[in-house]
Amino acid sequence: MLYIATAESSAPRRDRQGDASRQIVESLSRAIQQQTTPASRASTGAGKVFAALALVLTTSLLSAPSAFASPSTLDPHSGLVSSCAACHGAAGEGASSGAIPRLAGQNADYLAHALSMFKDGTRASPVMQSVAHNLSDSDMREIAEYFAAQHPPLAQAAQAPQAGEIEAGRKLAELGDGSNLAACFGCHAAGGKGNGARFPSIAGQPASFTVERLHEFQARAKNGAAKPGSMTAIAAQMTDAQIEGAAAYLSTLPR
Ligand code: HEC
Ligand code: HEC
Repeated sequence: MLYIATAESSAPRRDRQGDASRQIVESLSRAIQQQTTPASRASTGAGKVFAALALVLTTSLLSAPSAFASPSTLDPHSGLVSSCAACHGAAGEGASSGAIPRLAGQNADYLAHALSMFKDGTRASPVMQSVAHNLSDSDMREIAEYFAAQHPPLAQAAQAPQAGEIEAGRKLAELGDGSNLAACFGCHAAGGKGNGARFPSIAGQPASFTVERLHEFQARAKNGAAKPGSMTAIAAQMTDAQIEGAAAYLSTLPR
């Protein structure tokens, strides 16, 4: 009796997760095809990475067990977690190759909100838009809480950042540039630890991700007037050297 009750109560959930995983694989294949056209490969430099990830992801998802230990806690081996882990790492540590952000230790509300922005198309990223397309609100909430609670070591960079860049980045983050550019930690809190759902943690991110994300804010600023004090307006004032320095320094900070 007990066995039957357990099986019945967990069955619909397991199916739903299995479906979500399969949909993610299908739509990722589409996104990856778009990513690997010559034009986008030239502009992102990530076509090869995505093609390789597609393979890893398809293999890991099709063999991933998707049972749950309890209704409210995601099993690290669930299909949903492994569909993200294929790119973001087993515990969401991120990766410098492919500019993949660290999710571990990020504010859960910020993560869930980012997913909903990918889903409704208000945040750009062909890959993440098609991943988020298949997630329900409760998937987003659960996966956000799962990664927010992880504390793996920082992802290793292919090349260690240079001491001079780190020092320039530290000054910018703590003090600003002395004229227009505000101190990063004024909003993102000391050590870049983040402040609530609005100001994400920027500590411990692979430098490649921070650079790409700041360039993306800059691109957005070119498409229309940025709200004063928004991250778009701040990034628009940054030079490439300031971006490199900030990214190098932030990548060394624990989170
Ligand atoms: C094929 C690789 C890939 C897969 C699979 C993937 N992601 Fe991502 N994810 C990325 C990349 C690349 C970015 C950076 C996008 C950008 O900012 O332009 C990203 C960004 C994010 C962000 C924004 C983080 C931030 O700090 O701004 C969140 C949240 C996220 N992913 C969650 C997930 C979750 C949850 C899953 C699984 C359901 C997942 N991702 C699966 C590649 C992937
Ligand atoms: C006036 C407040 C403010 C200041 C100062 C500020 N930021 Fe931000 N930053 C934000 C807000 C708000 C967001 C969230 C924007 C969003 O998600 O669209 C953000 C987002 C970011 C992100 C994206 C994080 C992620 O995980 O996707 C990065 C990277 C970042 N800031 C870096 C910096 C750096 C580097 C500096 C200093 C040069 C800085 N910020 C200064 C308000 C600020």
